Amino acid sequence: MRKPFLAGNWKMNKNISEACELAGNLAKNLKDTDMKDILIAPPFTALAKVKETLKGSNIKLGAQNCSYAESGAYTGEISPAMIIDAGCTHVIIGHSERRQFFGDTDEIINKKIKNAIKNGLIVIFCVGETLEEREKAITFKVIEKQVREGLKDIELKNIEIAYEPVWAIGTGKTASPAQAEEVHAFIRNLIEKLYNKQLSETVRILYGGSVNPENIKELMACANVDGGLVGGASLKTDSFTQIVKLS
Ligand code: PGA
Repeated sequence: MRKPFLAGNWKMNKNISEACELAGNLAKNLKDTDMKDILIAPPFTALAKVKETLKGSNIKLGAQNCSYAESGAYTGEISPAMIIDAGCTHVIIGHSERRQFFGDTDEIINKKIKNAIKNGLIVIFCVGETLEEREKAITFKVIEKQVREGLKDIELKNIEIAYEPVWAIGTGKTASPAQAEEVHAFIRNLIEKLYNKQLSETVRILYGGSVNPENIKELMACANVDGGLVGGASLKTDSFTQIVKLS
């Protein structure tokens, strides 16, 4: 049985005080939710303060990106060790916005995952096809390439996978449960091929893309959907609380 995992990706939103306010509210609302893993990923600047706010809470803290380098002359980069120092246990790698706008290729993502794992972080590894790719009916091919190259030479330990169709992110257009389940099942089969049956059965695959309190239940009802990576709806206390409770 895979424990549900609900993660809020705050993206480039919230200053330090706003982030602490939201984190504090969530910690209060979700304090009796031991049957689920809950994570929030605020922007880098708020991590250390949010960690203080979360003291004693069951909510985990994650960063939204990390460097493939350990330290040194990499202006503007943040290393896994710095993220851990700020209080994180997790990091999101390979988000489609990083792929689209900041040049994160499968090869770079692979290097980032290796560095994060080596330093002891748990990785939320994101994959997903664009609308154009879905319309060309190459979704599985795209996902397979992202998974194979992103996880190349990596042991499948401390990795959560998130399937996030790019056309569903921030658009209000969620994948239907059938569309999500089809790709999640495909990823799980691929994990069995690349690793083994046991790992394919234990790895969690989260769905992301316009998750909200109205659709979380039917998505979670899919056999291979183990949680959600939530953007917009994780920015408000009520909607993220609802999503966690309804999942
Ligand atoms: P969204 O974002 O929930 O706002 O669609 C999801 C994500 O990008 O992780």
